[in-house]
Amino acid sequence: MRRKLVVGNWKMNGSRAANASLLSGIVAGFDAAQADSAVCVPAPYLAQCEAVLAGTPIGWGAQDVSAHASGAYTGEVSAQMLAEFGCRYVIVGHSERRAYHAESSELVAQKAVAVIGAGMTPIVCVGETLDEREAGQTNVVVRNQLAHVLERLDAYGVAKIVVAYEPVWAIGTGRTATPEMAQEVHARLRAQLAEKNAVAAGKVQILYGGSMKPDNAKELMAQPDIDGGLIGGAALKAADFLAIIHAAA
Ligand code: G3H
Repeated sequence: MRRKLVVGNWKMNGSRAANASLLSGIVAGFDAAQADSAVCVPAPYLAQCEAVLAGTPIGWGAQDVSAHASGAYTGEVSAQMLAEFGCRYVIVGHSERRAYHAESSELVAQKAVAVIGAGMTPIVCVGETLDEREAGQTNVVVRNQLAHVLERLDAYGVAKIVVAYEPVWAIGTGRTATPEMAQEVHARLRAQLAEKNAVAAGKVQILYGGSMKPDNAKELMAQPDIDGGLIGGAALKAADFLAIIHAAA
C-alpha cells in the first residue's frame, strides 16, 4: 500500500558537467512504475535539477535548510528559497550535519517544521552510532531523535514527513545493517508514529540508508516496514541508482 521511495543524497559531490550526465542517465532509465524517486543535491545545483527534471516524475530536493525564515543568517538557505526552486524534499538531521555541525534534535525538529511550512516534505534522519548500538541504546537514541520532531507536529503533520533510518556505522562504510536489524528499528519507528496518528503511521515512508547498493537493496526493501532507501555513494552512478530503483519494484 505504501509506494517505495528511493532518494539519492549526493552529499557534497558533483559539477555541472557530471550532474548533466548523471541526471540524463537517470531520466533515460527511470520507470515510475517501480518507485518514486528524487535526488537531493548541493543547493547551487537546484536550478540545474529544476531545468532537467521538471516535467519528469523524478523529484529533487536539498540536503539541509535553515530553521529561520529570513534575516541575518549568513550562509543559510531558507525553506521558502528551496521551495522557489521546486524542491519536493529536504533532508534534515543527517548524521553528518549532527556530527560536523553539532545539530541538536531540537534544531532538526525546527528545520522539519520549516520545511513543512513551505509546502515540502522533510526527510527526517535518525540513527545510532556504533558505540550506541554496542551499548544497546539503538532504540532509545532513535526514539528520542524522532520524538523531538513529533512533539512539534500535530496529528495531521505526521503524514507530512518521510523518516530515514540511517545507522551511522553503516554510512559510507560498506557495512550494512542486516534486513532484520533494520526492520526491527523501522517497525519501532512506525509504532512511535502510530502513537501520534495510527492512520498516518501506516502511510509514512520509512527509508533505510547506509551502504544500500544494487546487490543488497532488494532484500532490505522486501522487509515490511522498509519503504525505500536514502542512497549516498550508489546514487552517484546512474546505473547503480537505477538498479536500486529497480530492486524496489
Ligand atoms: O544519506 C545517505 C546515507 O548517508 C548513506 O550513504 O549510501 O554512501 O552509505 P551511503
